[in-house]
Amino acid sequence: MIPITIDGQPVEGKEGENILQVALDAGFDIPHLCYNENVKPYGACRLCLVEVVRRGRSRMTTACTYPVMEGIEVLTQSEKVLRARRMIMELILAMCPGDKLIQDMAKQMGVEQVRFKKDDNKDCILCGLCARVCDEVVGAHAISFAFRGDRREMVPPFLGEAMNCIACGACVVVCPVDVIRMKEEGDERTIIRWKRTLKMKQCKVCGNYFAPWFQLEKFKERAKLPKDFFDVCFTCRG
Ligand code: SF4
Ligand code: FES
Repeated sequence: MIPITIDGQPVEGKEGENILQVALDAGFDIPHLCYNENVKPYGACRLCLVEVVRRGRSRMTTACTYPVMEGIEVLTQSEKVLRARRMIMELILAMCPGDKLIQDMAKQMGVEQVRFKKDDNKDCILCGLCARVCDEVVGAHAISFAFRGDRREMVPPFLGEAMNCIACGACVVVCPVDVIRMKEEGDERTIIRWKRTLKMKQCKVCGNYFAPWFQLEKFKERAKLPKDFFDVCFTCRG
């Protein structure tokens, strides 16, 4: 175990863990939007800023990307940290003014005004979680960042339909601001944001449409499953 202190309290982390993980497990409250324990930390939202004191020197860093190291002191509530987080929250609020989660987080952090230009046409906070889950967990590599600066966007290749998307809906689940929508109508499932519509497979037992054909074929291929493995839905399989 690796001993550190967080806000003066002794805490222990494990080799390979980051400060955010250790702090959250120990019950500290550090705001975060782009962290998900199932994918590699990316440090996109910068909300998890903390001050780390190591060998007498202090620096600000994102807690999700900083590994625990013996003897470090972590400050999660210093004036410097709170001021920087408020500024970041203002930027995020300007990027996504209509989202309830963001509004609530901003309120909790004491952010009442936004000095940056709000863009009501934008809704994505560019956290990158959808693409990281799609790459690292699903393995579909269907979406990625494009453009730079204030034109940066999360998009399918060539801005058209996401041809690698298997419509599994993992991105829908992880998006912190709920801007990726999925709809099912008849035998079709559509991931609206990625312009991807796929035909669904019908269960041979209950007759329900339960998952896109393309997704099931990919899973079968990857796991070398028998041809008829997905003829029956997950519920009827028991
Ligand atoms: S669509 Fe959602 S998950 Fe993807 S980058 Fe934007 S905010 Fe993050
Ligand atoms: S949670 Fe650490 S930068 Fe977003």
